[in-house]
Amino acid sequence: MFVIVNRFVVIVKCFNSYQSCLSAKLIHPHIHNSNSRFVKIRNFEASMAACKNIIDKKFILNNGVEMPAIGLGTYRIRGEEPVIKAVDFALAAGYRMFDTAAVYGNESYLKNAFRLLLPKYGLEREDIFITTKLSPSDHGSRPITTRAYRQSLENLGVDYVDLYLVHFPGTARTSSDDTINIKIRDQTWAGLVSLYRQGYIRAIGVSNYTVRHLQQLLSSNHGVIPTVNQVEWHPYYHQSELLEYCKKNNIVVQAYCSLGGTSAANMSLMNDPLVNNIAIKLGVTCAQILLKWALQQGVAVIPKSTNFERMKENTALNFTIPNGDLEALNALGERNTKYAWDPSIVS
Ligand SMILES: NC(=O)c1ccc[n+]([C@@H]2O[C@H](COP(=O)([O-])OP(=O)(O)OC[C@H]3O[C@@H](n4cnc5c(N)ncnc54)[C@H](OP(=O)(O)O)[C@@H]3O)[C@@H](O)[C@H]2O)c1
Repeated sequence: MFVIVNRFVVIVKCFNSYQSCLSAKLIHPHIHNSNSRFVKIRNFEASMAACKNIIDKKFILNNGVEMPAIGLGTYRIRGEEPVIKAVDFALAAGYRMFDTAAVYGNESYLKNAFRLLLPKYGLEREDIFITTKLSPSDHGSRPITTRAYRQSLENLGVDYVDLYLVHFPGTARTSSDDTINIKIRDQTWAGLVSLYRQGYIRAIGVSNYTVRHLQQLLSSNHGVIPTVNQVEWHPYYHQSELLEYCKKNNIVVQAYCSLGGTSAANMSLMNDPLVNNIAIKLGVTCAQILLKWALQQGVAVIPKSTNFERMKENTALNFTIPNGDLEALNALGERNTKYAWDPSIVS
């Protein structure tokens, strides 16, 4: 199963929502973007006002594809029953975006969940947005990346994914400081560009790329700029330089570990006194503060949960964090506390 995404349907869909949501001035084909044909990432707060529920809010990527602002992270949700339960809860709570990766080992469980549950909610494949990621062990030449992508499609039981990301700038079994990483990354991106240009993927992007990795990519981008850079991003770990660079180049930053990650040992962020005080002041929860902190700065989020109430809580974000509190939360970044892998050591 490896068919070309129906470009006409996608373009018409974008056109309709452009018209209904924001009377857009620009209509761009989602295939073949180039430096000169960017759709500007719109001001998130302004466009949010046009949508009643934040769960319906979308970022328009630099190729015109619409990506929900909030999705469900699925890292460490494994096994038939847990995945089906999580997808069932998420669809019921209004989630329409699911973030997975080849290395999470749950793509095939998601396939069964989508087959079983989309009809239950009267949804079709194109009503949901699926992100998956190329494993660091599948970096390299075109045949390697194509094979990996086909495998993910087969695992997920779909004939396209909405967003395909290079999971990490480093290649597996290669020393981080080996400059061969630069060459292999370039080949890998060329492979994704080829799949995208042929219409097999709606949007391509990267994950865990630092400014340096992005600069290298942009200097030899094979004609396509990444739409998204998915990175660790929370008040304890965020870089204004990266956000500015991405905004300048029309790359949406998508946060992971917004709540401090999945390890029970990582409760410091959720228990931070400042986060807690602002939450009390605004009458919301710490999780809601952490998610809204990202969204208010134009950063998309993919919180992971297996619990229906928490999933709903993570989308009830109809409040504004005052600028002073936003700045105080930003200042927590001085701690530089990371919960996940560190890409800055990769050449
Ligand atoms: N690209 C990458 O390299 C990369 C790396 C890491 C993660 N990711 C992606 O990003 C997603 C999110 O990151 P993450 O899974 O590391 O962690 P996260 O979203 O920061 O945190 C999830 C943890 O918070 C709990 N939680 C969720 N909502 C809550 C709430 N309202 N109140 C209290 N606790 C809550 C969850 O437990 P319950 O399930 O019990 O609710 C879970 O243990 C991942 O699932 C994955 O899809 C990508």
